[in-house]
Amino acid sequence: MNSPLVYLNGEYLPLDQAKISVLDRGFIFGDGIYEVIPAYAGKALRFEHHMQRLQRSLDAVRITNPLSNRQWQEIIDKLIATTGPQDQSVYLHITRGVAQRDHSFPHNAKHTVFAMSNILQTVDPELLKTGITAITLDDIRWQYCNIKSISLLPNILLRQQAVDKDAAEAILIRDDKVTEGAASNVFIVSGGVIKTPPKDHKILPGITRDLIVELAKKHGMPIEETSISEQEFFKADEIWLTSSTKEVLPVTQINEQPVADGKPGIIWQSMYQKYQNFKKSLHN
Ligand code: PDD
Repeated sequence: MNSPLVYLNGEYLPLDQAKISVLDRGFIFGDGIYEVIPAYAGKALRFEHHMQRLQRSLDAVRITNPLSNRQWQEIIDKLIATTGPQDQSVYLHITRGVAQRDHSFPHNAKHTVFAMSNILQTVDPELLKTGITAITLDDIRWQYCNIKSISLLPNILLRQQAVDKDAAEAILIRDDKVTEGAASNVFIVSGGVIKTPPKDHKILPGITRDLIVELAKKHGMPIEETSISEQEFFKADEIWLTSSTKEVLPVTQINEQPVADGKPGIIWQSMYQKYQNFKKSLHN
């Protein structure tokens, strides 16, 4: 079987031939932006939404978008096609380019543009029955969490602390309020109302998060975009995590304590089904 190709600066190459300079500012400083887009049945989900977020992230760090949406679409379609018929996650990565090491922006550097598509690791069906475990940690990240920056060291350290405790995710708390997961957004159900923190600089505006909010509204499920105190969080009837690669997952244990009765909740079940139906509807 041919190994899938990756895209690097205008070329499609086998992964082991894709090389960049050690002076790339992404390598040296983590000076870049990325996107992760799920693709089902050969089609990127919510392509336009991901492109809008990519543009906002690039604008925020003053990197010009090297490609038009049409060019991005072409690259994504080609990578999905070379990777195969399976569901995939498409990764896009733009750095400020190659320059002598200096913190301030280089004058004439050309962006590095990298993209690849990997087969989506489907969520273990067992996990949908049992739910996942999470721990809470202080949100030690910076004040621009809305930017999808490749500088992910804080997120990596937070996620690893969760893994070290046999938990799947770290749910972050800043000033007594829940923000998001190390690589996911957070929802709770409290008194029959679905709640998720509002979109501001403290969280990444998740594309999956927005889709869940949209589906809830469309189906008349009570939902509020509102801050969630630590106290309310620990009393929640349900806790969910959302992301492009994990969709919507129920958290059934938090800090080694069960969430409500320790089983995935019925509102999660209903939302999970709506999410699956939404995905299917795109293929008809
Ligand atoms: N991460 N918050 C953070 C900090 C994230 O890293 C992610 C996703 C999300 C969810 O966003 P979305 O629904 O658009 O995937 C929220 C991706 C999947 C990653 O870094 O691999």
